[in-house]
Amino acid sequence: MSSSTGTSTVVTNIATLVTNDPSLGDNSPLGLVQDAALVIDGDRVVWTGESSKAPATDNRVDAGGRAVLPGFVDSHSHLVFAGDRTQEFNARMSGRSYTAGGIRTTVAATRAASDEALEANLTRYLAEALRQGTTTFETKSGYGLTVADEARALRIAAAHTDEVTYLGAHIVSPDYADDPAGYVALVTGEMLDACAPHARWIDVFCEKGAFDGDQARAILTAGKARGLHPRIHANQLSYGPGVQLAVELDAASADHCTHLTDADVDALASGDTVATLLPGAEFSTRAQWPDARRLLDAGVTVSLSTDCNPGSSFTSSVPFCIALAVRDMGMTPDEAVWSATAGGARALRREDVGRLTPGAYADLTLLDAPSHVHLAYRPGVPLVTGVWRRGVRQV
Ligand code: NIG
Ligand code: FE
Repeated sequence: MSSSTGTSTVVTNIATLVTNDPSLGDNSPLGLVQDAALVIDGDRVVWTGESSKAPATDNRVDAGGRAVLPGFVDSHSHLVFAGDRTQEFNARMSGRSYTAGGIRTTVAATRAASDEALEANLTRYLAEALRQGTTTFETKSGYGLTVADEARALRIAAAHTDEVTYLGAHIVSPDYADDPAGYVALVTGEMLDACAPHARWIDVFCEKGAFDGDQARAILTAGKARGLHPRIHANQLSYGPGVQLAVELDAASADHCTHLTDADVDALASGDTVATLLPGAEFSTRAQWPDARRLLDAGVTVSLSTDCNPGSSFTSSVPFCIALAVRDMGMTPDEAVWSATAGGARALRREDVGRLTPGAYADLTLLDAPSHVHLAYRPGVPLVTGVWRRGVRQV
């Protein structure tokens, strides 16, 4: 195959290739091709199909009869932080319940940390995620809650990913405990001015103990006016206005979606807002599972992500989340794998990741298993044995 870069590589002898292109292979949403091959040229996929039809290339990698799928797209994490909350987790596992207030512990530790310490922590968890097959990730501010601390969190995040979210509205800053309106004014004013240049997205934690519907609307609307696109922490700990606000504002994603009314589900089904489910949070807070089956049956687009953060979900493992979603949230293995790849891409409104078809980035995960189903069938087993990001093998 002629190569624009002079280095084309065929990955061949793939037992099951997940393309996420329903026009290929078995014509399911995963577009599964058996006995497949895939050609990488530079940072892109240029060909996928049956092994026997693969074009000639410069290099050849033998997948050894194992499964290849798109790198995971983790559309929700909080990785600019310092410290941990082991004690809080221990207390929860002894019966204490999770509240938004625990965020303050991490805010204090994060403010006290140096830029270098925050960046080292971020890159450590990114490397951990990459080893588990994640090739695209979003991450947020939200543990600074001052103008300078939020802006520095976003600067640090932006050095490592394009998918950066301004979450000055994580909770009302402890400095404004008696003046929540003043904090909303800061988040929509001076803090937004300092943060908008470093972010693509704006988020708000719409929840009891954090921000109500009116505050969330004001914050997201101000962000939109500055060119940021909304996404929302919605309906995590209780029923509330977040999901319907997300759809009304055309947020890319409503995240958590644990407590949903029928009207919330109808709203999601009628709009372009993806429901991002984060089972690591329910696992680590011993909360009820979000009902993925109900959402899928209503026609809602579902994404699956880790929510990796030191409080409510300290896992960077998308495979773990897939296993939980299949075991406890009513998803089939195919649906869960789609949601963790193509679904994540939808939640970030990206066309160039989450699929393995010509033109997409060559972001691939090779499993030490013959099929993607093993991600749920063999929970807790480190099956990821190869990862390519932008055409370069990383693992
Ligand atoms: O997505 N819900 C709000 N934010 C995080 C939790 C952050 C924390 O507890 O530190 C979440 O679960
Ligand atoms: Fe979160």
